[in-house]
Amino acid sequence: MKLMKTMVLIGMLALVATPVHAKLKTVGKGDKLGFDPSQVPTDMKGAFEIMKVKCIQCHTMERTVIAIQTGIAPVTGQPFDKQATKAYGIKMLRKPKSNMTREDVKQVVNLMNFLIDESAKP
Ligand code: HEC
Repeated sequence: MKLMKTMVLIGMLALVATPVHAKLKTVGKGDKLGFDPSQVPTDMKGAFEIMKVKCIQCHTMERTVIAIQTGIAPVTGQPFDKQATKAYGIKMLRKPKSNMTREDVKQVVNLMNFLIDESAKP
């Protein structure tokens, strides 16, 4: 009986110690890769809609997902963390025909920061 208990305990410890993957949830693959909307809180649904429309005008969402998942901006190889999201947002805004407002970008930056926090969770 004592052995059973010990084994159960070891089993539980192993579960806790197993490295779990980033909590960020995604859907699709490659060009279709996107963020799973189920992880987006109600107050950020609006920002999510803006991102879904505005941030795929020039490239797919894959670029943004990879940046957030890996912490590295996939084109330039620069860090992509909460200190950097605003600058990337502004950079996108300033591109010709970006078709975005400062407010759009502000909301998307806020959402990206939330998603960075999510992906950092164990
Ligand atoms: C007007 C076109 C355009 C729009 C709109 C646009 N992007 Fe980009 N994006 C680019 C181009 C061009 C690049 C290539 C790298 C560069 O020039 O910075 C890029 C690169 C990126 C990268 C990789 C940056 C790097 O340094 O590797 C990320 C992440 C990104 N975009 C996210 C976004 C997000 C989030 C939005 C919406 C807020 C967005 N983009 C909207 C044109 C656009």
